[in-house]
Amino acid sequence: MDKKDQIFDEGFSQVSSFAFDEKVVSVFPDMIKRSVPGYDTILKGIAMFAMKHVKRQTHIYDLGASLGGVSLTLDQALGPQNVTIHAIDISDAMIAGLNQLLRTQQINNTISVEQQDLSETTIKNASMVASNFTLQFIDPALRNGAVKNIYQGMNQGGVFVLSEKVKSSDALIDAYHGYKKINGYSDREIARKRQALEDTLLPDTVSEWKVRLTEAGFSQVEVWFRAFNFVSFVCVK
Ligand SMILES: C[S@@+](CC[C@H](N)C(=O)[O-])C[C@H]1O[C@@H](n2cnc3c(N)ncnc32)[C@H](O)[C@@H]1O
Repeated sequence: MDKKDQIFDEGFSQVSSFAFDEKVVSVFPDMIKRSVPGYDTILKGIAMFAMKHVKRQTHIYDLGASLGGVSLTLDQALGPQNVTIHAIDISDAMIAGLNQLLRTQQINNTISVEQQDLSETTIKNASMVASNFTLQFIDPALRNGAVKNIYQGMNQGGVFVLSEKVKSSDALIDAYHGYKKINGYSDREIARKRQALEDTLLPDTVSEWKVRLTEAGFSQVEVWFRAFNFVSFVCVK
């Protein structure tokens, strides 16, 4: 049973900026499942795209791997293929949590856990890159460069799956807050988390992302999943 996320229910009067620290890591599986609509479906979709595009003996990059939701799903779905999955994350607490979790898992390929800023990641021989709700946390001014870097390191025919919280209408954001309420978060928790994310998560629109992905060179850029203001794109090189 995952430990319940009650971080924004705690009685502090001041809400500090959201950070991927030890407190968040300890409740992360529960937090992501109750906060990201369709999280499990998105992981299955990423696995499905991997089964179509990933080639033996190539590399996969999981940018902002957190506790390895994407890396572990891909490893299980692909089975032994002699691929190297680079699980990249900038947070000390996430990297420690992922290393600890991996000690308890049976792995088919190589999962290489690397603590770094994805803006500095060298991508090479990649048949797949996944960024599942990560680029939204980097400075918007760095997003074009990050996407170009991903494109350049990918093999022809490779796939980039990008999931993002996007800028949306107030009506959709309202509906999303209703979804969180159904998942057991109180109005107070929803409002406090929203405030904490205000300066750490600056979303772009779907159109801004499509332009950025197309300008980087991807030939096929499509939304394959959407729920409220949560979107996943599939992009083929
Ligand atoms: C919402 S979580 C990602 C969830 C994860 N991909 C999954 O599917 O379970 C965002 C992650 O991105 C990481 N992150 C944020 N900025 C980063 C950066 N510049 N480079 C690498 N990782 C980053 C955070 O530490 C956090 O673990």
